Amino acid sequence: MSEAKLFQDSAYLQKNQYRDSSNLDARAGLHRRFSTAVSDWQPWVFDLLQLKPGMRVLECGCGPGWLWRENVARIPANCHITPTDLSPGMVAEAEAALAGSGHQFEFRQANIQALEFADETFDVVVANHMLYHVPDLPQALAEVRRVLKKDGRFIAATNGNKHMQELPTLIPEALRAVSGSTLVRGESEMLPFRLENGRAALEPFFNTIELHLYEDSLWITEVEPLLAYAFSMIRPGESVPETAVAQIREAWAAKIEAEGGIHISKHSGVFVASDPN
Ligand SMILES: C[S@@+](CC[C@H](N)C(=O)[O-])C[C@H]1O[C@@H](n2cnc3c(N)ncnc32)[C@H](O)[C@@H]1O
Repeated sequence: MSEAKLFQDSAYLQKNQYRDSSNLDARAGLHRRFSTAVSDWQPWVFDLLQLKPGMRVLECGCGPGWLWRENVARIPANCHITPTDLSPGMVAEAEAALAGSGHQFEFRQANIQALEFADETFDVVVANHMLYHVPDLPQALAEVRRVLKKDGRFIAATNGNKHMQELPTLIPEALRAVSGSTLVRGESEMLPFRLENGRAALEPFFNTIELHLYEDSLWITEVEPLLAYAFSMIRPGESVPETAVAQIREAWAAKIEAEGGIHISKHSGVFVASDPN
């Protein structure tokens, strides 16, 4: 199966990649620890929601609920928030982490392509780094438009072509063949919903679309978190020989020693879509 197809395969996503938050945590952990951004990602996304007291919010693909966990003190009073995810493991983690938060959360397992909510239910719908996993994007966007109120906002975060573009070149050339395709490919060129094509995907559903870019890059000063990031995307059944891992570890340690760190570009942002047509 091609990388792009695997990335949209619901059995793989539910049972393997996102069975729980461990793979996602390895990736988010690298961003959290080595980001050079002025504001952390989840608070930056939260600001774009423009929540007001009493609003009804749907999150599709909530993962372990970080958007809410990292902004819990900023949620306005009486909001009703429905975090949903394809993976039951993710929903369970989000629910466990947010129990007792004092806010009204209603957790559900749900596929964005078939939402079990009435028309015009929500003031805000969020899809934070998840639309690129959806096999039928027009169907998902039609569902979002259906459940969003006419004056509602849709917040869709994604990456662009230049996101983490240095990653494949960091693997020493001699090791690329043995270390398996997963560790050496770039992340973004396979994404069907990217900064470059997101507007065109949204235009059939919304009349107003703004793109907000997130200024960031990584300056990585430790080898292990970068290795954990690379291994978080390894395919089921694939493995990298221990000798190759040792050589990669050595090459990255030498680069950090010589240059003080490893620079990786980021290219992320959020589409804010409103005025459903
Ligand atoms: C990259 S993670 C992002 C998680 C979270 N939004 C965040 O920013 O931390 C993508 C999430 O989307 C979920 N997902 C994938 N396909 C989905 C679908 N069709 N409907 C709902 N959730 C989906 C995955 O299970 C995973 O938890």
